[in-house]
Amino acid sequence: MTYTRLTFCNRVGAPPGADARWAGAVLAGLLFAALASTPTPAPAQAPAPPVQATPAPTPDYHPSMGDLMTMAVQPRHIKLALAGRHRNWAYADYELSELRNALARVARTIPIYRTSDTAALVDAMTRVPLEAVGAAIHNRDAGAFNAAYGRLTAACNACHQSQDHAMVVIRVPSGEAYSDQDFAPRKP
Ligand code: HEC
Repeated sequence: MTYTRLTFCNRVGAPPGADARWAGAVLAGLLFAALASTPTPAPAQAPAPPVQATPAPTPDYHPSMGDLMTMAVQPRHIKLALAGRHRNWAYADYELSELRNALARVARTIPIYRTSDTAALVDAMTRVPLEAVGAAIHNRDAGAFNAAYGRLTAACNACHQSQDHAMVVIRVPSGEAYSDQDFAPRKP
């Protein structure tokens, strides 16, 4: 409000003829704005960028087994439990696939852990319980899901024990993690 009043006072004190010049300046400004916003004809189709000859540089970040477990495996294990608890079978199915893929990527990123073949170890430890979780999801069977999820969690620990990491103990999560995510099934 104060600024408007000040501007008005200035115009009152302006010399004669200043108004015309001011109006001209405003018109010129409007014209410029109109011209600037006039769409220019589209340029002819730009040629396709040349195919890159050199491969893109790979990021110099090498996550450890512990990093991958904490970043990729643990969150999926938790979210899978929440999906089952909410009987959100569509999401549980998705999250089970995410967990499977995360374990597969761990094996691809760290093919040999100490002296063990990671892919073989993951398969030996988790294939059967993961399949049981999948069957429970398919049958929309909460009781079977809980039993299979318990076996999956035991498999996490069996692998930790076999790899000299018995101190890493996983359990069925309690409480609601990820409060920014709604785990309830979507209404159709
Ligand atoms: C193939 C064997 C294997 C399987 C299967 C496995 N883990 Fe691990 N996990 C490891 C190893 C080995 C480590 C220790 C890595 C290190 O620090 O060198 C580890 C570490 C972890 C850690 C890091 C601990 C911390 O506090 O920083 C978490 C969390 C974890 N695992 C969660 C899980 C969960 C959840 C599952 C099951 C869904 C699972 N892991 C299945 C081998 C496995």
